[in-house]
Amino acid sequence: MKPRHSNFVRDLVEYYLSETIHLTRPSAYLEMGIQKAITFNEVAVQFDKAVAVDVLPCGGIKLKDAQFFQMDTDDFIKDVLPTLGLQFDIAFIDAGHGDLQVMRDFEGVFPHVKENGLILLHDTYPQNEEYKSLSFCGTAYKTAWKIRQEWREKCEIVTLPIGHGLSLVRKADRQLMWEK
Ligand SMILES: C[S@@+](CC[C@H](N)C(=O)[O-])C[C@H]1O[C@@H](n2cnc3c(N)ncnc32)[C@H](O)[C@@H]1O
Repeated sequence: MKPRHSNFVRDLVEYYLSETIHLTRPSAYLEMGIQKAITFNEVAVQFDKAVAVDVLPCGGIKLKDAQFFQMDTDDFIKDVLPTLGLQFDIAFIDAGHGDLQVMRDFEGVFPHVKENGLILLHDTYPQNEEYKSLSFCGTAYKTAWKIRQEWREKCEIVTLPIGHGLSLVRKADRQLMWEK
């Protein structure tokens, strides 16, 4: 598969995930790292509750009920996330792109995602060496690989190797979550 350049996450959500989102009637969406809120505005509108985090100010959020926290994701996970009382249907991690940061974000968010919920990791398939630089995709791909190797008891993961790569993690410790 050849990488195709576009706002892949927005396209994926619009053309593929939105039907899933619609059918599963999700209630809560979290995006860590929103920049100009391009993806956030497209996705969050489909949820009752939407939460955004970015270390920089963001004036682009169109959804008036959305909660925005201007802070580092480490501080958000430690100080804010436990106070929200939310379990997310989808959490999109797209903030710091170093693998250790992405791993901390993943581990921190994991307990706050519903069973069968999705965690999306962006930039997990840099197209060449140059794209492994922190100013492009960084080393988020290493986190996707680590999850694949070390978290298989708790979730399943697939990496779509297009548009810089998007990994979809389903929080599930068995195939059918209703079969306890
Ligand atoms: C690639 S952009 C996000 C793009 C956005 N998700 C979208 O699809 O439109 C990454 C954002 O993460 C923010 N960021 C980077 N490191 C962060 C950190 N440690 N904590 C919070 N935000 C961070 C940056 O300020 C930037 O706005």
